[in-house]
Amino acid sequence: LSQETQDILSAHEWLTKLYHHLLRFTKDGKEGYSYLKNRGVNDEAIDEFQLGFAPNVKNFTAEFLHKKGYHQQLLVKAGLITQQDDNQVSDRFRGRVIFPIRNHLGKTVAFGGRALGDQKPKYMNSPESELFHKGKILYNFDLAKKHIRKKNAAILFEGQMDIIAAYQAGIKNVIATLGTALTEYQAKLLNRYVDTVVICYDGDRAGLDAAYKAAVLLRDVGCEVKIAHLQHNMDPDNFIEKYGGEKFENEVIKASDTFISFYMRYLMKDYNMNNEGDRLHYIEEVLKQLAMIDSSIEREYYLKELSNEYNISMDTLSNEISGYREKFG
Ligand code: CTP
Ligand code: MN
Ligand code: MN
Ligand code: MN
Ligand code: MN
Repeated sequence: LSQETQDILSAHEWLTKLYHHLLRFTKDGKEGYSYLKNRGVNDEAIDEFQLGFAPNVKNFTAEFLHKKGYHQQLLVKAGLITQQDDNQVSDRFRGRVIFPIRNHLGKTVAFGGRALGDQKPKYMNSPESELFHKGKILYNFDLAKKHIRKKNAAILFEGQMDIIAAYQAGIKNVIATLGTALTEYQAKLLNRYVDTVVICYDGDRAGLDAAYKAAVLLRDVGCEVKIAHLQHNMDPDNFIEKYGGEKFENEVIKASDTFISFYMRYLMKDYNMNNEGDRLHYIEEVLKQLAMIDSSIEREYYLKELSNEYNISMDTLSNEISGYREKFG
């Protein structure tokens, strides 16, 4: 590592400790501490994830690190402080709960800061840098790795609070993409560690679309994909807070769909199923996906489902799907 990179890492380490200390033990961090308590986060989780609070003071971080001997330009480059056109600098994270973002070695390489109220943006993140590529990092991978290996399964969430809620409930094979689309890099990384990935994104439209894209990527790199189903107004974090980890495990994770079941449900959004033309088109699209399944037992299973649901004979469906299978080789 270059000297500069080492310095950026050590600056992150100082700040992780400072923000955490403030949140945990001082009145300057009380707002942040109460915020987390109100959301049901306990001290153990606060310590495990090194959660912190950045005071709402313009140059708090800049001055702290200046005293430690860090140069301003380095901190600007690291994205910890921002520089305006008039060369004035100010802290990037102010008045926010801080979530250190650790790399696979457990080193903090970036921060995510959550607003205490409805301020925008809800989350403020470190910019991309040499050390931090959002598309390459899986949040919590360092802590989750051994649990992922042991269970031969990983649960994929959207955000930090989903991870913390699950972890606190004893579900530890959990990682998150921090709101961005899963990348091929991350999919391949996961595939090196597990057979099964359960995608558990938010139950809203955005979560559903992102889950579909992540599922295709994971399937294409060779993972067995399951997709969990949450009600529209729910995300894993508020589900666990409301119903507990056991219910989450049993009714969300264990009940997650196979790719095809998910796809059949997901695809319906594009069609008016009361219209015959639409319905036929929908069935064709599903058949194209089913044609890609290698196991004849599995294919048959879904064909039966379609046959029952839409009252089409198995013969007709089998003929149709054979056509597609020849086309795809
Ligand atoms: N995110 C972000 N910037 C935003 C909004 C979201 O980087 N302005 C990222 C965060 O990592 C967040 C994830 O996307 O955790 C998922 O977004 P969302 O579901 O909106 O947030 P939650 O994780 O549910 O946040 P919270 O529970 O704190 O409201
Ligand atoms: Mn990048
Ligand atoms: Mn979301
Ligand atoms: Mn969410
Ligand atoms: Mn949430």
